[in-house]
Amino acid sequence: MICLGNICRSPLAEGILQYKADKAGLNWKVDSAGTGNWHIGEPPHHLSQKVARLNGVDISKQCCRQFRKEDMLQYDKIYVMDSSNYNDVKHISRELWDESKVDLLLNELYPGQNRNVPDPWYGTEDGFHTVYDMIAKACDNILRKYAVNAKV
Ligand code: 4NP
Repeated sequence: MICLGNICRSPLAEGILQYKADKAGLNWKVDSAGTGNWHIGEPPHHLSQKVARLNGVDISKQCCRQFRKEDMLQYDKIYVMDSSNYNDVKHISRELWDESKVDLLLNELYPGQNRNVPDPWYGTEDGFHTVYDMIAKACDNILRKYAVNAKV
């Protein structure tokens, strides 16, 4: 799960998908990273932590890191939150870029529409709730798609 800062959106996406996968009994390893380096080593934004906690998901122990090109090899699927993340991941990955692994997260909810998860960084708590709900619905569809027998 990739966003710009790895502080607002992708920590939520990591926490939500890992929570749902664990609950469905799947042995999935979900991770997240940012394309930028401003917040390396920090925990998620306090409002991402709060909104996750209100939904029963603990993301407090996550630690911000930057996307590196080797992630393209290490992971089976890479979801980006917006189209600029997509371009940045492509740029960072250079010769390791694998287009077949990368997609916008919301294409799992609105196929082919290339919609972005809005960045809540400059907004209020409402924006974090909106983003949480979008990501959670997309993650439900990921489970339906890849985990045929999972109860979602
Ligand atoms: P995120 O939000 O990409 O959802 O983590 C942002 C967090 C920090 C910054 C930008 C976006 N920043 O400019 O520091």
